[in-house]
Amino acid sequence: MKNVILIGFMGVGKGSVAREVIKHSEYMAIDTDDLIESMENRKIKAIFEEDGEAYFRNLEKDTAKWLENSVKNTLISTGGGFYKQKNLKKIGTVVLLDSPFDAIIKRIKKHPNAVRKLKKRPLLADLKKAQELYEERRPEYLKLADIVIDVTKKSALDCAKELLKKVKKYA
Ligand code: S3P
Repeated sequence: MKNVILIGFMGVGKGSVAREVIKHSEYMAIDTDDLIESMENRKIKAIFEEDGEAYFRNLEKDTAKWLENSVKNTLISTGGGFYKQKNLKKIGTVVLLDSPFDAIIKRIKKHPNAVRKLKKRPLLADLKKAQELYEERRPEYLKLADIVIDVTKKSALDCAKELLKKVKKYA
């Protein structure tokens, strides 16, 4: 199976959809933020605070190279800025989880761990800036995506089922 690479804005539900996909398929799953945190043995928030965003983006670049060369049969969920990696399309079929900005923020806020979810994401600290970032990125996400899944008002399970159906064409 060709890898599937999940892209989309922070908080859109990439992790939740990935967990449902692996329950209902043969895919293995990995997450680029988790890989980076374990390589560095520190949280994303600490990496941003201690070494800055550019350093983090370099780690994403190393991760992207490794994924392209070494990973197969895997659903790869990514941080919201990972889509900028030049070799993205070489890693696998690109699936965008799409939703309006307001719906994403509502989704995060109604989560039982909302405070933690907001705190661990440095780029969500200022919602006005986050919205600008969303508006700048959305057309770029759409341009890169082989498949777009509108996740608004859908359960993670329904999104996972839709994903599995649509990726068959690209396998
Ligand atoms: C980022 C998104 C985060 C994480 C980092 C930067 C971004 O991942 O990679 O805080 O640039 O959008 P999530 O999309 O999982 O929140």
